[in-house]
This record gives sequence, structure tokens and C-alpha cells, in this order.
Amino acid sequence: MSQRTERIVAAIEGEERLDRPSYDVANAASLALQPMGRAAQPIENALHGTWLGHPLHPLLATLPVGGWTLAFALDTAETLGLSDDPRTARAADIALAAGAGGAVAAAAAGIADWRQIHGRDRRTGLVHAAANSTALALALGSLALRRRGRRSAGRALSGAGWAAMAAGAWLGGHLVYRRGVGVDQADRSPEPRAFMPVLPLDALEEDRPRRVEVWDEAARAGIGVALVRHRGRVHAMGSRCSHMGGPLDEGWVQDGGLVCPWHGSRFCLRDGRVLDGPSTAPQPRYDARVRGGQVEIRRVPEPGDEALTPQEIDAATQGPEPSPPPGARKADEVLFEHHELMRRLFERIEAMAPDDPERRDVMRLLAGELEIHEHVEDEIFYPAVRPVSEDVPVAHAEHQQLADMLAVTLRLGPSSPEFEAQLRALHEAVDHHASSEERSMFKEAQRLGDARLRQMGAEIEAMLDHERESRARSAFRDLKIRLLEGV
Ligand code: FES
Ligand SMILES: [Fe+2]
Ligand SMILES: [Fe+2]
Repeated sequence: MSQRTERIVAAIEGEERLDRPSYDVANAASLALQPMGRAAQPIENALHGTWLGHPLHPLLATLPVGGWTLAFALDTAETLGLSDDPRTARAADIALAAGAGGAVAAAAAGIADWRQIHGRDRRTGLVHAAANSTALALALGSLALRRRGRRSAGRALSGAGWAAMAAGAWLGGHLVYRRGVGVDQADRSPEPRAFMPVLPLDALEEDRPRRVEVWDEAARAGIGVALVRHRGRVHAMGSRCSHMGGPLDEGWVQDGGLVCPWHGSRFCLRDGRVLDGPSTAPQPRYDARVRGGQVEIRRVPEPGDEALTPQEIDAATQGPEPSPPPGARKADEVLFEHHELMRRLFERIEAMAPDDPERRDVMRLLAGELEIHEHVEDEIFYPAVRPVSEDVPVAHAEHQQLADMLAVTLRLGPSSPEFEAQLRALHEAVDHHASSEERSMFKEAQRLGDARLRQMGAEIEAMLDHERESRARSAFRDLKIRLLEGV
């Protein structure tokens, strides 16, 4: 965000005079719904998007954004004389009207969501709504002028409306992407992966939620879980509400669901799904059982989770023991040695004078080794450790990042003024990556057993040799490095 937009948003967020009209609008919206009693809940759920699994408002907002942008483009073509086909003008009018219809629907969903936010976000939301209402009023005014044949005035009005809509959309983006409004706020930790005792059953009263905490080492945080004893069964779900992080363990049980004390979202005790909004995302689920008078819980993995359970690790490490060649070193030892080689190469380049003609050669050597290293890990090591380590997806991403940084470094050339800083950044990135492999992934890889690691070590050594010796591969590597250097 530029400093100017930053200042504008700060001014809106800090403007207390917006609170009064906020409450008036929110109260008016409540007054429309309250006389309906419980019948209002399904309407509110529909507007929030509880049925959809995502907030409905952003989806509906694409209608005015799309319709009005199309109208704006067609109007511009007409104004510039690029088209005098009457169908262009007709199409612009239809797009403008369709956008206006969508804007009304988006506003209804937006108000429903906005009623449930507070403080600075409510102020920003009010200005967002005012900008969009202005855009709607201008679009309707433009349609009226067009109907009376005053097309150029109509086009000017809807053009101004398009600008108001863009400003409103920008504030909406700020609310979601910067402030996290409408984003799932639950703690989706994979822990605990196996049943673990958390509370004596006696400490749990019927329909009185209790909070317990489990430790997530990767997140370095305690994760809250709400336990509920209901009709003889114990249920467990994440205690941080997916809507805005409210404390579900301080909520109450109603119609088979746990109600959030903050805005009344209700989550099914059995499976954590949303029964009533404003939330649209289900709560994290846990299996709960009672053993020896203790309540034990286990996190239920979510679809697409990379999280490994002890059972999966056991399954992955069983199978016939390979017989590695005698004297073979373990894969982690071979890779560690290669990490050390690259560290030495970095130190060597850093110690050389910028105009040393050998510097470019050593840089090329390092580039080649780094590429070989990534290749060997991507081909042999990472696929093998994937079933026993959760680090592989991030390690892959880091490889991508290292390759991009290496390309920039090579392009700069060792005598350029920016080279030193870029080289240092690359060195640190490689060091971070290699150290985190050594600290975590190499340790987890030990679960595969000595024989498999030695077998893999032999394969890696053979591949390293092959990569270095193979003429075709090294010619390709040299060509790539030279292309990157721009030589
Ligand atoms: S935080 Fe809003 S309903 Fe829970
Ligand atoms: Fe790596
Ligand atoms: Fe590595």
C-alpha cells in the first residue's frame, strides 16, 4: 500500500464519528429482521453463505464489478467512436442494469456480514458501503438518463459510478486481505495425531463446555479445544470460532450445537459443521473417547491435509528391508557432506576480490553443485521421506526460491556492485534451507531405517557422480548458466 492510501485507511479506521451512523444502520437492519423471530435465521444464514461454505457477499460483488466494468468498456468504445453499432449501446445499458441488480443483492449480503463486525473494521465497512451505494445511485441515475435519450450525460454518470465502485472494492479488499474479515479464524493444527488424555471425565459437566489445550510444536503454540459432554457422549471441537475467533468454550449448547458467545454461530457437536452463521467455515474436529476415567482426544485430519499420523508412519516404514551395498553411507550423511561443500564454496567466493578472474569460475561451480543437489533431492530423497516427514512441501518451495535467487545472482556477474549483497542473500538462503533439512528432515528420515537410508545413500552418490560426469547434462548446465549470466 502506498503511503497515501495507508493514510486514507488510517483516517477512516480512526474516525469515531462513523460509529453513530454505524449503529443506526445496524439497528435499522436488526429492526427489519427481529419481528420475524426464528424465521429470520434461515434468511441470515442464506445471506452469510453458511450453505455455501464461503461468505456469499464477495461472490455477489462480482456481479456489479463485472457488469459495470463491461458497461464502462462499451461506453468508452462508443465515446471514442470505435463503434456506432446501436447494439453496443444496448449491450452497455443491459450490463449496467444487470450490475445494478447484482449490487442490490451484494448489499443485502454485505449488510448481514457487516452487522457482526466491530471497531475499526465496522467503520471501514461503512465507508465501503457508502462508496458502493453511491456507485449504485449513479448507475440508476445513468439508466434513467439513457432512457430519456441523454446518452452522453448517462455515460458520464455511470463512469463516475465505476470510479466509486472501484474505491469501494479497494476498501473491501483491505477488509479481507489485510484485516482478515470473512477469513476462517479457527486454529487448524494437526495435533494431537494420536489419542491423548486431556481431562478427567468427572471434571466435565453435562452441557458445560470446558477448554483444554494441546501443544503444537510446529506452530509453537497451545491450541484450544472445547470439550462438551452432551447426552452421555463427549464431543470435541476447536475452541477458537472460525468466524472471528470467539471462545466457543464460553458458549452454550443449543439444539445439538455449540453456540459462539460473540455472534451466535452454532456448530454441530457431532461433526463441527456450521448450523447457523455468521460463520461459514466448520470448526476443526476431534475424535473423543473415554479411557480409564480420562477424556482422550485425537484430531480428525481434514481433506488434503499433509499431516502424518503415527499409523501412516508405521505403514510407510514397514516392508522388505533392502540390502545396501557394503560400506554405503546413509543418505543424510551424503547430503550433509554436500551441504558442507557448498558452504565452503560460498566462503571461497566471498573471500575473493571482485575482479579476480577465477571468481566467475568458482561461482559457476557453485551454481552447478547447487543445481545437482536440488535435482538429487527432488528425484531421490524427498519422494522417499515424504511419508515420514511433513517438511517436503516447504522444502520444495525453498528449492524454487533458491533457483530464482541463483538466476538473479548469475545475471549480476561477480564484478557488478550489487553482486556482493545478492551473493550474501543467496548464501543465507542456502544456509537456512540446508540447516533446516539437517535439523528436522534428516532426523525424521531416520524412521525409514538404517538399511533404506544406506541404500538411498548409494543411489544418491551414484547420481551425484553421474550428474557431474555426464557430458550431455553438464553441457546443458553450462549452457543454462551462461544464458543466465547473459554471456
Ligand atoms: S466469533 Fe463471531 S460467531 Fe464466533
Ligand atoms: Fe534441499
Ligand atoms: Fe539439501
